[in-house]
Amino acid sequence: MGQHFDTKSVHLALKSTNSIDSKVTPIYQTSAFKFTDLEDLESFYQGKKEYLYTRVGNPNTDELGSAVAQLEGAPSGVATSSGLSAILVGVLSVAKAGDHILASTDIYGGTYQLLANELIDFGIEVSIVDFDDPQVVENNIKENTKLIYTESITNPLLRVENIQEVVTIAKKHNLYTMIDNTFATPYLCQPFVEGVDLVVHSATKYLGGHSDVTAGVLVGQEELVAKAKTKVVNIGTNLSPFDAWLACRGIKTLSVRMERHVKNAQALADALINNEYVDKVYYPKSVSPKGNGAIVSIDITNSCDIDTFFKSLGWVKIVPTLAGVETSVSYPLSTSHRALPKEAQDELGITKGLIRISVGIEDQADIIAAFEQAIAISKK
Ligand SMILES: Cc1ncc(COP(=O)(O)O)c(C=O)c1O
Repeated sequence: MGQHFDTKSVHLALKSTNSIDSKVTPIYQTSAFKFTDLEDLESFYQGKKEYLYTRVGNPNTDELGSAVAQLEGAPSGVATSSGLSAILVGVLSVAKAGDHILASTDIYGGTYQLLANELIDFGIEVSIVDFDDPQVVENNIKENTKLIYTESITNPLLRVENIQEVVTIAKKHNLYTMIDNTFATPYLCQPFVEGVDLVVHSATKYLGGHSDVTAGVLVGQEELVAKAKTKVVNIGTNLSPFDAWLACRGIKTLSVRMERHVKNAQALADALINNEYVDKVYYPKSVSPKGNGAIVSIDITNSCDIDTFFKSLGWVKIVPTLAGVETSVSYPLSTSHRALPKEAQDELGITKGLIRISVGIEDQADIIAAFEQAIAISKK
């Protein structure tokens, strides 16, 4: 230790944490890890020490990757800076320039942008086709196809993917499969257990659960996830330790939150189906014996004035995300699906009256009353 104030002020606060048994994992908010000598440093490269530099690995991000892998029944997982970067490294772990990917039309708008507009610059060709008909999927497989990509419950129209069908087609043609399980969460659906190679999450949503973190996780077989981890390190799409810690804290209450979320969503969907001023209700069926998810989409194009509806929602706010504990609404036409070509919007049903409701964990009667009131005020 140096003797001068300036040196002491920098070094004095350092404390060894080795013998402190904290109940929860501490936040390793550090960009790098220290070494006593060259032999100690070399021990990292020999696999005897786990951590060197946070972009390369960090206890909090590793904890998040492992936690989601366990919940999905997969051997390995990696945390990333966002759901989209998890999708990117997942794709790049199985496809390279010259390869082709087949993806479903009704995926999250940001994923559509990534697949349709960005991957082309990596030399990866993408076809976006209707997954409702397995024959259409099969007919679009090319010689250079490597991956089939879809969502377990699609955003925002909540089509439930037939995972078995997708896996069967992929196995027949020797292709990889990757499924975004963000909406269902492993509480309702475990695509890896059903034979999917890579499962991806926007942990920004239900895993984090409190709308205070942007994060992604990719899980799957050891070998594929190892490739994706290398991409994370080399591209720099690592997650910050604090965000990983927040997401891990969220996961601890995933089960209890989801139980309430899905009960409330079912009750709201039932109430809206019976409301004559709602043109259409999108709410999945038969997702899991535990429930059908917590997103309900409605179309009120013909029956209500859209602006008045949004203004009449009271405590339910417009938020361009989902899966927080608070009930919120979003407007896909001007947010998540804004950049889609008009024909794609029309084909998908992204209309001017489509509203995506993320049902929270508040009192069920209050949630239903908020929507019934907004409909009553805005009905034409
Ligand atoms: C289904 C789905 N996948 C992926 C993403 C992208 O996640 P992130 O915003 O964490 O990058 C989103 C974001 O809304 C989503 O809804």
